[in-house]
Amino acid sequence: MTDHMPDDLSAAGRDLRAYTDELRPKHPVVRNSKGEWVLLRHADVLAAAQDHERFSSQVSRYLQVPNGLDGEEHTRYRHVIERHLSRDALEPFIPVFKRVASQLMAVLPRGQVLDAVNDIGAVFAVRAQCAWLGWPAELEPRLLAWMGENHAATRSGDRDWAAGVAEQFDEIIRSVIQPRRAAGDKAPDDLTTKLCRETVNGQLLTEPELVSILRNWTGGDLGSIALCVGVLIAHIAQHPELVVRLRAAPDAEVEAIINEILRLDNPFVSNRRVTTCPVHIGGRDIPSGAMVKLNWTSANRDEAVFGNNQFDPEGNAAANLIYGAGKHACPGRLLATWELRIALQTLLASVQTIELVPDQPPEREVAPVGGYHRVPVVLT
Ligand code: HEM
Repeated sequence: MTDHMPDDLSAAGRDLRAYTDELRPKHPVVRNSKGEWVLLRHADVLAAAQDHERFSSQVSRYLQVPNGLDGEEHTRYRHVIERHLSRDALEPFIPVFKRVASQLMAVLPRGQVLDAVNDIGAVFAVRAQCAWLGWPAELEPRLLAWMGENHAATRSGDRDWAAGVAEQFDEIIRSVIQPRRAAGDKAPDDLTTKLCRETVNGQLLTEPELVSILRNWTGGDLGSIALCVGVLIAHIAQHPELVVRLRAAPDAEVEAIINEILRLDNPFVSNRRVTTCPVHIGGRDIPSGAMVKLNWTSANRDEAVFGNNQFDPEGNAAANLIYGAGKHACPGRLLATWELRIALQTLLASVQTIELVPDQPPEREVAPVGGYHRVPVVLT
């Protein structure tokens, strides 16, 4: 019996992947200390992500647009969001992201210790998102401070603190929405204004819906991009041969390499579902109304699909679950992929070497987040 295993309560510094790698072959489904059923195998995670009837996304008492919605309601809001995350909508921002990356990489100090997660990843993520959404640059320090506190609150497991931090973020979002709604036709021509004018069922999106959508785009994803940058830089600093390949590779190959590095060390660990009826999965009987966790990080390392986890960007691409699967699969995938590629290519073009610091090894993040908390590096 493998009940009550702390799948997501690792001690600071421990690599959570080693733990789920150890559990997965014998215990495809474990229960964590919160009583949630954690799916560790690729086949089960994929099956649950694609079974929208028996695994509902209505897991929170808070409004979550679109991620906490099911069925038709989800589809209606998802369409609104997808319009702004399509290739056509995002293409004009490529030069913007390139400019943001070049300006940041140009001023990063050379020859001194930097933290790839906070000094590179978080700053790039915030600047790129502000530029994309049309948010003022003055919000940058506030957003960075918020990311730091949000992280600390999440790590602490203190729900009241986390709720207070979430409320602070909603205030930041209201501070950009309210003036745009009040300005009517005179509002700036940017993505946030466009979103404020969107309708569902003939009705303008309400303020709580707008706040939820923007919270999802920024609050959750700024952190993911920063963590992904940390994982990518830690990996390439340990694999100089990959740097040579990345420098010469066309964009599509760079993106495939990035996705493969993130498959092996997926910092966006899990999402939840709630069962709508009794379910038999991974050899276990899960009752109706149970909280289930889809552990993408573990599924992405499942030996049943990826063998001995050989680095194979092309071969492993089709089964890679870093952006999820099913109706809730990440609509921001293209945006995230382009941002990560541009950040990495710009960094590689502006430095000769990226080295880890021998007496300051990268520090692992603690659950519920993966990847690294800090990746000290020296650029030359
Ligand atoms: C590297 C960065 C990112 C990773 C690893 C990531 C990963 C994921 C995953 C695994 C899901 C599926 C959730 C589920 O099934 O419950 C998801 C959903 C989502 N992601 Fe991302 N994401 C990233 C960046 C972004 C960005 C930049 C945006 C938008 C600006 C975004 C917007 C969303 C939204 C709105 C959903 C919910 C979709 C729905 O419920 O239909 N993501 N993401």
